[in-house]
Amino acid sequence: MKVNGTPYRSLWWLADREVLQIIDQRWLPHDFRVQDVATLQDFADAIVQMRVRGAPLIGATAAYGMALAMRLDPSDSHMDHAWEFLHDTRPTAINLRWALNRCRDMLRPLHLNHRANAALALAHAIADEDVEINRNIGLHGLEIIKDIASRKPAGEPVNLLTHCNAGWLATVDWGTATSPMYHAHDAGISLHIWVDETRPRNQGALTSWELGSHGIPHTYISDNAGGHLMQHGQVDMVIVGTDRTTAQGDVCNKIGTYLKALAARANNVPFYVALPSPTIDWTVTDGISEIPIEERDPAEVSHIQGLTDAGDIGTVQVTPTGTPSGNPAFDVTPNHLVTGLITERGVSLASGDGLRAMFPDLAAA
Ligand code: MRU
Repeated sequence: MKVNGTPYRSLWWLADREVLQIIDQRWLPHDFRVQDVATLQDFADAIVQMRVRGAPLIGATAAYGMALAMRLDPSDSHMDHAWEFLHDTRPTAINLRWALNRCRDMLRPLHLNHRANAALALAHAIADEDVEINRNIGLHGLEIIKDIASRKPAGEPVNLLTHCNAGWLATVDWGTATSPMYHAHDAGISLHIWVDETRPRNQGALTSWELGSHGIPHTYISDNAGGHLMQHGQVDMVIVGTDRTTAQGDVCNKIGTYLKALAARANNVPFYVALPSPTIDWTVTDGISEIPIEERDPAEVSHIQGLTDAGDIGTVQVTPTGTPSGNPAFDVTPNHLVTGLITERGVSLASGDGLRAMFPDLAAA
């Protein structure tokens, strides 16, 4: 998508310097900084420190990490080391393991001399596929938004609510939950997006930055406002992303998603999840007991980062010194609260039957 009129992806390979470049998302929305990722340690740091974040982008970044590892040393032992090193960065988003496994499975049978180029070609393919998957999620989601728009009084926008940032910054391009928004806006449908702030890291500010850059009307709200807005008929549809969806259609996403799903159900608001197929974990059936939930630094809760009046990016403490804080980063929304899964192949029921019917090839693999 565009930043100040210039098209960007969230990561790109510089062939002449043989280096990956990323947007360091820690400084957004206040500062747009591009950064080289040049060593295996850089790749791990970029994921752990959330310079890159969002399930699909974590996966694509890890694929480039494997490509770099193969350039340095294409041996089996180094490949396995790179797999472990990158895999241990963040536990919840399944796209990380999906991308690393895909790289290792493809590389293992190859002669060592061919591994570097093949790994880079695969990383490019994973990035390009992600863009195409998200574009198609957008087209399927557009049909749902069109249907809602057709039932709204003339002149009234369709009000969507989203949580976290499942935008182009969280993917290679388009985003998952935001792709239907971009497609609907570009198709001339009048939209307004309620953007949850998404404490503790405020990924909603990234979503606001994206939507603002694309000219989509939106309002940034506190995480606690959604239920109230739904009670007052001000939300037509919720769309969120996912970090890992089980074979039964349970959805693990950013902390707070579950509460939005409960509020949506209580108020008859459709609750959709934008789901790229690499985010399905076919090995997990019970999301609540089986998905590892990342527990992050409590300082993300006790402190908050923002722009000071002096124009610097700074951090302040919001709790009394020494207050214990807890920071589970994701939660699981059971499938019965999900109206539908918007995938690249179409809209699926959030159930084992629904996912198997939509992806019989992947379910069988
Ligand atoms: O901790 P983050 O910022 O990596 O979490 C991101 C999310 O939870 C997104 O909603 C999810 O990855 C879907 S992104 C298309």
